[in-house]
Amino acid sequence: MSKLRIAVQKAGRLHDESMELLKNIGISIDNGKDQLKASARNFPVEVFYLRNGDIPQYLKDGVVDAAIIGENVLIEKGEGIGIAEKLGFSTCRVCIAVPKATKYNGLTDLEGKRIATSYPNTVQKYLDEKGISANIHIINGSVEIAPNIGLAEAICDIVSSGSTLFKNNLKEVETLLKSEAVLAVSPVLNQEKQAILEKIQFRIQSVLKGRE
Ligand code: PRP
Ligand code: MG
Repeated sequence: MSKLRIAVQKAGRLHDESMELLKNIGISIDNGKDQLKASARNFPVEVFYLRNGDIPQYLKDGVVDAAIIGENVLIEKGEGIGIAEKLGFSTCRVCIAVPKATKYNGLTDLEGKRIATSYPNTVQKYLDEKGISANIHIINGSVEIAPNIGLAEAICDIVSSGSTLFKNNLKEVETLLKSEAVLAVSPVLNQEKQAILEKIQFRIQSVLKGRE
């Protein structure tokens, strides 16, 4: 019998709550996250611990069947990947921020400016929609440092508590989208795995209902 391969974040914001959810739906994982792969003891499921940014491609290729991942990551690079369930945790927003001391009157202020971000597609789409042209600089982490070191006039990154913006003397000026953890599904899932996924979805729905 085939097993459903579920990807979860190896480390980072979603990891703990993802594992908690799997536990709550009765999927007990044998080994810890030192292993990159773990089997469930009591359910046809394998869990793969992967890097956030790699998960969309694995889903597209069908290397994994499903994933617990931030909706923001899917929007950035998950075209064609469906969302089976919104999971209600790890809520955040994707925002543009500028230094506190910068006067900001609106998006036109960003015309011709440099924006540092790990979400280039999301930013580009937003700017295109608003008819603004700016220079996007891709940085993979610690994006909020960019204005302080003279790399950019603005940044775009996820904001959760707001403490990273605060610590780096930045203020939020535009909200591009809101996000939360979701159960994402590979576009090439076969029927047998679809049936396992439906069982999992059913359990997740019960757990989420209980949390309301
Ligand atoms: C994430 C994100 C923001 C911050 C938002 O960074 O990139 O910087 O968390 O959370 P907050 O609003 O609660 O401060 P993370 O700490 O994961 O590090 P990284 O950007 O270097 O990957
Ligand atoms: Mg960060």
